[in-house]
Amino acid sequence: MRIILVGFGVVGKSVTAVLARRYAEKVKDYGFNPKIVAIVDVDGAVINPRGLSTEKLETLRQKGAPISADPEFGHPGMTALDVIESVEAEVVVEVTPVNIKNGEPAMSHITTAFKTGKHVVTTNKGPLALALPALMELAEYNNVYLRFSGTVGGGTPMLEFAKRCLAGDKILAIKGILNGTTNYILTEMAQNRVSFQEALANAQKLGYAETDPTMDIEGFDTACKIVILANWVMNKKVTLRDVDRTGIRDVTLQALDEAAKRGNTIKLIGAIDGKGKPTVKPMEIPKNSPLCVSGVLNAVTFYTEFAGEQTLVGKGAGGIETASAVLRDLLEIRRRLASKMLS
Ligand code: HSE
Repeated sequence: MRIILVGFGVVGKSVTAVLARRYAEKVKDYGFNPKIVAIVDVDGAVINPRGLSTEKLETLRQKGAPISADPEFGHPGMTALDVIESVEAEVVVEVTPVNIKNGEPAMSHITTAFKTGKHVVTTNKGPLALALPALMELAEYNNVYLRFSGTVGGGTPMLEFAKRCLAGDKILAIKGILNGTTNYILTEMAQNRVSFQEALANAQKLGYAETDPTMDIEGFDTACKIVILANWVMNKKVTLRDVDRTGIRDVTLQALDEAAKRGNTIKLIGAIDGKGKPTVKPMEIPKNSPLCVSGVLNAVTFYTEFAGEQTLVGKGAGGIETASAVLRDLLEIRRRLASKMLS
């Protein structure tokens, strides 16, 4: 499977690390043989149609920007769209920073990949939060797959759990802690009485926060994830505009202390209620609720018709965790392609 990697930040570098390990192990899942044939970021690209070697990937990862300065395979100034259009590959892995205004540049990367017959794996919430139903249709029209497991729950397979493991049941409502940065901040504030600013700075240092941390703090990141869950899991055609959203900026140490006296704490909760209404807001929840996870952990509860409440907990952010979701999506595409060939 030939892969074009678009974006070489925390997640992009982790994708090369995870795939390089796969090369080394020669894992034969469904005949999966990943080859990164191009990496492109804002400065340009590195391209080797035969696949960039593990050593080359490691050198690029350690050196960082600009990757296009590579003496052997570098193409300074070459854009992602040029690469997607001209380099032969089966899949584009799109991991550029999130933009929730118009989804760009990821939106164009994804649609261009579709038009050139390439499957897409993305961790980018922007285009999905703005236009997931349209993108699914476009993928189908072009006979390619779009997968985005890493957009919700990082490495924790929340989308797959709901879609596959709860197939046959009906998901009536969803409630979750879906943002590691805000959960880390609220946990630090509640448990260690750390100030909001200090906790945010730590979350940024640890690489959890978005490039623009207001995405996390103001609840936009959680809102994007709730939109993706609503569309993918509950077939609700909602977009970011439909989400009633409040962030955590006004949560005080005093409010956390008051909640603690009642055996509760305050968490940023993303929810879709029984009527399909998406909301994001800080809420008091019991400390002994299965949803009440600490630090950077995420948790989601699916309220189902038959199986009752199902809660999934796991790491919701971090480069290597999210890269594991990319690999999961690549394997899923490989599996689907293999079964198509057999049928
Ligand atoms: N900034 C996000 C978070 C990263 O903190 O959860 C994963 O989407």
